[in-house]
Amino acid sequence: MKSVRKIHHLRSNMREEVLDEKNLPSSPLALFDLWMKMAIEKSPDPTALTLATCDKNGNPSARIVLLKGYNAKGLVFFTNYKSKKSAELIQSKSAYMVFYWPEIHKQVRIEGRAEKIPAAESDQYFSSRPRESQLGAMASEQSQVLAGRKALEERYKFFEKKFAGKKIPRPSHWGGFRIVPTYFEFWQGRTSRLHDRIVYKKIKGNMWKIFRLFP
Ligand SMILES: Cc1cc2nc3c(=O)[nH]c(=O)nc-3n(C[C@H](O)[C@H](O)[C@H](O)COP(=O)(O)O)c2cc1C
Repeated sequence: MKSVRKIHHLRSNMREEVLDEKNLPSSPLALFDLWMKMAIEKSPDPTALTLATCDKNGNPSARIVLLKGYNAKGLVFFTNYKSKKSAELIQSKSAYMVFYWPEIHKQVRIEGRAEKIPAAESDQYFSSRPRESQLGAMASEQSQVLAGRKALEERYKFFEKKFAGKKIPRPSHWGGFRIVPTYFEFWQGRTSRLHDRIVYKKIKGNMWKIFRLFP
């Protein structure tokens, strides 16, 4: 492409939904739960989120992962514990998650501390996954350099044969992280770019300070 493709004329029309201090729950999780339920109804990929991490020199990286559960303790996703993201989460403990649901004009940003979930919880989820996904997790040395597609397929076949007719155990390099949130920002798209941005910042225990930001 020689010339720069112009996309600045593309605009989306915001539906008039509002975030009003008068109607906010005291817990950000209750609002997250409400929005997630709306996203599940309207969005093709409601659980997909961008997870940002940072290496020890402050260089950021980000990727999509899928949210697999949430409760008052935090938000859980699964990955390879030897991946780049895991190395950074283990080293810095800091994580940043972003959900964007264009169909309902909503964004949620979450900052928190990362911790590995107990092995028994990872075992439970791993055993519920389709066999092909279990073999895929076994075969992938996520984020390592791979000689070629064939090498990956051969590793998959190797484990397929090894575990033929047997239960596939969770590999120790695969499991869940819980992000324990300290900050939520709820963004509601509004007309004329006068969007609503409401922040819940953890003070202590279950207490959250709620405030509004300029859009
Ligand atoms: C829609 C979608 C869902 C994904 N879900 C996950 C996931 O749940 N866990 C995961 O480890 N990688 C997932 N990935 C792959 C990651 O985006 C990424 O490529 C991989 O985890 C390696 O990242 P890293 O090298 O930064 O650790 C997903 C990718 C896409 C596009």
